[in-house]
Amino acid sequence: MILENTSAIVTGGASGLGEATARLLSKEGASVVVVDRSAEKADAVATDIGGRAVPADVTDEEEVGQAVRTALELGPLRSLVNCAGIGWAQRTVGRDGSPHGLDTFQKVIAVNLVGTFNCIRLAAAAMASNDPDEQGERGAIVNTASVAAIDGQIGQAAYSASKGGVVGMTLPIARDLAAIGIRVSTIAPGLIDTPLFDSLPEEAKTALGTSVLFPQRLGQPSEYAELAVFLLTHPYMNAEVVRMDGGIRMPPK
Ligand SMILES: NC(=O)c1ccc[n+]([C@@H]2O[C@H](COP(=O)([O-])OP(=O)(O)OC[C@H]3O[C@@H](n4cnc5c(N)ncnc54)[C@H](O)[C@@H]3O)[C@@H](O)[C@H]2O)c1
Repeated sequence: MILENTSAIVTGGASGLGEATARLLSKEGASVVVVDRSAEKADAVATDIGGRAVPADVTDEEEVGQAVRTALELGPLRSLVNCAGIGWAQRTVGRDGSPHGLDTFQKVIAVNLVGTFNCIRLAAAAMASNDPDEQGERGAIVNTASVAAIDGQIGQAAYSASKGGVVGMTLPIARDLAAIGIRVSTIAPGLIDTPLFDSLPEEAKTALGTSVLFPQRLGQPSEYAELAVFLLTHPYMNAEVVRMDGGIRMPPK
């Protein structure tokens, strides 16, 4: 797929993996809509890359609909990268005997899983009216899961369930959207150095890096962005979940 003269939506595009992807997509010639619940940061990134910011919660039908309409003003919407996500760590039953909050479990599922699906369904419906390219393709979608979808650690029930849902829906959605010429892939990142790790001192980050098989360091957001753009543009990548983790396999804690 050619990115030039097309539009792209990146959710969570104001920070970390989404920001790196928005920047690379723009460098590759796409007009990027930066969708994020943080309006100010989304604006800063969009201004920097000559794109448009749409402050939106990915779980909100109307706000994501507005993001899709904005993308269509910039060009045919051919790419969606879902990076918006939240974390949560709590044991199913805590050391003090209290059960995991149901509201927090539901919130993580709502943002990471339901929000991802909300963006996919609305963007794909818009992509369906694109002219097919010479391969018959109308668009491509990349989602973000996590190695926690497979190697969930202690305290990750909600997060792993949400990311496991993203992994699980990749194939059926790719099958649904094949009829309209849209490919769907999912990246399962390992430990990537985003603002998520900002609270950690440099030595702690280095120590965490040594738990990676090779190379023994945290991954870079730019490495995620390169893979996302590869999956969007490679015509034969479809229905796949790709771990991008330096070979790490997470232990129980
Ligand atoms: N960094 C890692 O090591 C790592 C590893 C595996 C998976 N991931 C996943 O990658 C994705 C991006 O993570 P990151 O490290 O770049 O984090 P980040 O916190 O830097 O960026 C996430 C962005 O999503 C936005 N966001 C959160 N909830 C939203 C909502 N409801 N609607 C719209 N925007 C919302 C935030 O405002 C933020 O800008 C997440 O889904 C995360 O679970 C990250």
